Amino acid sequence: MPFDRSIKIAPSILSADFADFGREIRAIEAQGADWVHVDVMDGHFVPNLTFGPPAVKAFRRHVKTVMDVHLMIAPVDPYIDAYADAGADILTAHVEAGPHIHRTLQAIRAAGMKAGVALNPGTPAEAVAELLDLADLVCVMTVNPGFGGQKFLDMTAKVRRLREMIGDREIHIEIDGGVDPTTAPLVAAAGADVLVAGSAVFRGGSVDDPAPYGANIAAIRAAAQGA
Ligand code: DX5
Ligand code: ZN
Repeated sequence: MPFDRSIKIAPSILSADFADFGREIRAIEAQGADWVHVDVMDGHFVPNLTFGPPAVKAFRRHVKTVMDVHLMIAPVDPYIDAYADAGADILTAHVEAGPHIHRTLQAIRAAGMKAGVALNPGTPAEAVAELLDLADLVCVMTVNPGFGGQKFLDMTAKVRRLREMIGDREIHIEIDGGVDPTTAPLVAAAGADVLVAGSAVFRGGSVDDPAPYGANIAAIRAAAQGA
């Protein structure tokens, strides 16, 4: 997967029909998704529970683009091999998930995946300063993780700071939470290139009527590119 900083839209299947993940994944890709964002929650690190490695492995059969797996779990390390086996292209762990995020990022790369590090809204950009040589992606949470459909928190100053810290390194800046055509331009202008969107992609459509997914993806992309 060659690196570039063009805008990429990564629909979160947290907003999909949980009884129909295969068709939902195929629908969002047919409608223009660049990546597929998979939110793994453990009911412990975050107050919600979604799915684990066997489900993610089943999703893989349907993903033709990039499977971007966002772990909102603690601990992370015991599960890294399971997500490699499930076929994750990118595996993202939270800097807040434990004391040894440095080791975690090393282990993710050693297992053959791209390594992502996520920052909760209350965590400053500086928390990743010593991790940038180990990371392929920094995910800036613009909601407190756990649920889709929450209100966007303005983290543009943090994104700008990260963009400066990253310099020429080949590291994506991903935004997760409350991204829609109104908020996308703010974070794109600050230097983000991967925009996760759940409710703003899936609203108004369904697997039987997926055209609204395409219109929603196109609207977010156009707003971000106009930034
Ligand atoms: C939040 C998840 C997000 C979420 C985004 O905990 O990590 O990926 O699904 O959903 P929206 O776009 O609805 O805020
Ligand atoms: Zn996410």
